[in-house]
Amino acid sequence: MTKYNEYFLPVYNRKELNIIKAEGSYLYTEQGKYLDMIAALGVNVIGSSNKSIIDAIQDQIHRYMHISNFYESDIVGEYAEYLCKHTFANKVFFSNSGTESIEAGLKLIKKYGKQNNKDIILSFSKGYHGRSLGSLSVTAKTKLTNEIEPLIPGIKSIEFNSLNDIEKNINDRCAGIIIETVQGQGGVNIADKEFIVKIRELTEKFGAVMLVDEIQTGIGRTGKFFSFEHFGVVPDLVASAKSLGGGLPLGALLVNKKYSNILERGDHGSTFGGNPVSCAAGLALVKQVNDEVFLLKVREKAERMNVRFKKLRGSYSDIIGDIKQLGMMIGLEMKYGADKVTSLFENEGVIVNVTGGNVLRLLPPLTLSDDEIDYFFEKFEIVLNNM
Ligand SMILES: Cc1ncc(COP(=O)(O)O)c(C=O)c1O
Repeated sequence: MTKYNEYFLPVYNRKELNIIKAEGSYLYTEQGKYLDMIAALGVNVIGSSNKSIIDAIQDQIHRYMHISNFYESDIVGEYAEYLCKHTFANKVFFSNSGTESIEAGLKLIKKYGKQNNKDIILSFSKGYHGRSLGSLSVTAKTKLTNEIEPLIPGIKSIEFNSLNDIEKNINDRCAGIIIETVQGQGGVNIADKEFIVKIRELTEKFGAVMLVDEIQTGIGRTGKFFSFEHFGVVPDLVASAKSLGGGLPLGALLVNKKYSNILERGDHGSTFGGNPVSCAAGLALVKQVNDEVFLLKVREKAERMNVRFKKLRGSYSDIIGDIKQLGMMIGLEMKYGADKVTSLFENEGVIVNVTGGNVLRLLPPLTLSDDEIDYFFEKFEIVLNNM
C-alpha cells in the first residue's frame, strides 16, 4: 500500500507511476520516460523545468517568499500591470487556483446583481468550473452535486451552444453568465462562434456580466493568449489559473473597467492569493507565451497535428469519431475503447487522459517539437492497433 493509499482521502484515482523528474515534454521514472500529452492537466504549457521560470523563482525566493497581502509586493504589482496592459483587463485579483478565481467572479456578479435587482446567473450543460460549493453551483450536475445539495440558489443551467436557450433565458433578471469557450472536462466541446457572439450581444443588451472561464483554454492553449480572441468578442470578466503561475499555484480574476468597482475593500481577499513566488514564475511564463511569433507557431503546429488526426481517422474510422480541436486543446471522440486507451498509451510511454466519458483529451505542451509529434503519432497508431 502506498502512502497515498494509506494517508490520503481516497478522492483521486492516482496512477502507479513513480515520477522522479520532469523536464521539457517528458516525465521520468526509474524505468523510463513518458511523453506528457496533457502537460500536467494543462498547467505546464511550455513543458517542465523551463530555465527562465526556475531563475525567476530562485531570484524571488531569495528576496522573500511571502509577505502577506497587507503589503505591496513589487513582483505581484508587476504581474498585475502586465496582465492589464496586455489584455482587456482594468484590474485583476490574484487567488491560488481556478476554483478561487471563479468564486471571486461569482461574488462580483452576485453583488452587482443585488445592486441592480438581478437574481439569476446562467451556466451551461456540461460546464465545469471547479469543486467549491460556489463553483459547483455553476458546474453541470454530477452524482456528488445531488448528494450535497442545496448549492447556491439563483443559478439556471441552460443548453451549451443553443441559440434558442440563450435567447429564451436571458432577460433583465440575469446578473451574469459563466461560460467556457471550449468545455474541457465536459468533453472538449467547442462553442459556436455565433453562440458566443449572441451571448455578448445579449449580455450587453440586458446589462448582464459575461464571465469567460479561461482556466483551461487561456495562456496560449488554443493558439491565442485567451481563447475568446477566436470569437471576436471581449468579455467583462475572465477567470484564469493553471499555467498562469508557471507551474506554481496561482489564479486570477481579470475585470474590465466597467465592473472594476463592484468589489470593494473587505469584500474579498486571500492569505496566499497572489503569492510573490507564483507571480514571479507566472510572469516569466507569460512573457514567453504572449508573443505573436510563438502563438503563430502554436497555431501552425496545431494545424499540422489536425491534418494527421484526420488522416489517422481515415484509417481507423471504426474507432475515432469527431475530432474537436481549437489550437492545442484537442478532443478525439472514441467510438469504443475509451476505458482502456489511457493505459494502452501508458504502456507505450505516453500520458493522455479521457474526459466527457469517451473523449480522448490532449493538452500537449505548446513547445512540443516536430520529433515529439512524430513520436506521438507513431505510438498512437500502435495503440489503435492494440484496441
Ligand atoms: C475550465 C475549468 N474551470 C475551473 C477549473 C478549476 O480549477 P482548479 O482545479 O485550479 O481549482 C478547472 C480545472 O480543471 C477547469 O478546467
